[in-house]
Amino acid sequence: MTTCLEVKQLKIWDAHTGLAIIPASSFEVKRGSCVAIVGESGSGKSLTCRAVMRLNKANLRQSGDIVFNGINLSGLPEKEMRKRRGKQICMILQNGMRAFDPSCVVGVHLKETLAGHFGWSRDEITAKMKAAMESVMLNDPIAVMNAYPHQLSGGMLQRVMIALAIVLEPDLVIADEPTTALDTISQYEVVEQFVRLRNNMGCAILYISHDLGIVRKLADEVLVMKEGEIVERGPAPVIFSEPSHEYTRCLVSSKLSLNHHFTKIMGGGGCAES
Ligand SMILES: Nc1ncnc2c1ncn2[C@@H]1O[C@H](COP(=O)(O)OP(=O)(O)OP(=O)(O)O)[C@@H](O)[C@H]1O
Ligand SMILES: [Mg+2]
Repeated sequence: MTTCLEVKQLKIWDAHTGLAIIPASSFEVKRGSCVAIVGESGSGKSLTCRAVMRLNKANLRQSGDIVFNGINLSGLPEKEMRKRRGKQICMILQNGMRAFDPSCVVGVHLKETLAGHFGWSRDEITAKMKAAMESVMLNDPIAVMNAYPHQLSGGMLQRVMIALAIVLEPDLVIADEPTTALDTISQYEVVEQFVRLRNNMGCAILYISHDLGIVRKLADEVLVMKEGEIVERGPAPVIFSEPSHEYTRCLVSSKLSLNHHFTKIMGGGGCAES
């Protein structure tokens, strides 16, 4: 399997205080595979994701190499970066509501995004979005495109984002806690769509989650972060069955019990208790 993303010696620091938040992180995501980042709140998962997109706040500085499809993104001009965001690397965030402009209907945002990347006509865009929305079980795509974000549920907005990713066909999808704001049933549905996204499109996924039940279902490899450092890494089954770092052991045992209800309704690929 070839490498889709290689992060080498990523350092992130606060320019105001000089404090290093991520001292030196290195990891890779193979083409078509799913790598999950888990770890306690504030451990640096979101900063790591945003560093890949080069979208961290201005006070945060970063160094190191972010090699995506053989090109080092660290040295690219912002204009080149913009061409890659969305089309080659797509980010799906925790709160779907924030990803959309509240003042216009969802279809406008989708059309602007797609028109910015491809030379498609309005009709082509509508047809492609309609097919993708139907594939993620948004059964009335035209109504969804004509709705304002606040008129749709969190689960629907996440599925719209996944449908957009299907049309964009990125090589890498970065999902930062995409199900955290959802109720259990919507979480289940959105995770199912991630499984399909990966199976059908073969894109690589970098998936951040607190939820080890979901990670267990989706990820091939797991990185465990604590206070800005990757303290353990390995194939998902090994991390869950034989965690070697004390912190991972603690995380796995506490989270597995919390996830009991979720994994029960997830069926097969869930935790040992289910
Ligand atoms: N703009 C910023 N300036 C300075 N420090 C920041 C900034 N943004 C985040 N941090 C700090 O960096 C650390 C890592 O934050 P990050 O958002 O990556 O954590 P996280 O692992 O995603 O946590 P959570 O699980 O709560 O989302 C935190 O201590 C946070 O306070
Ligand atoms: Mg975060």
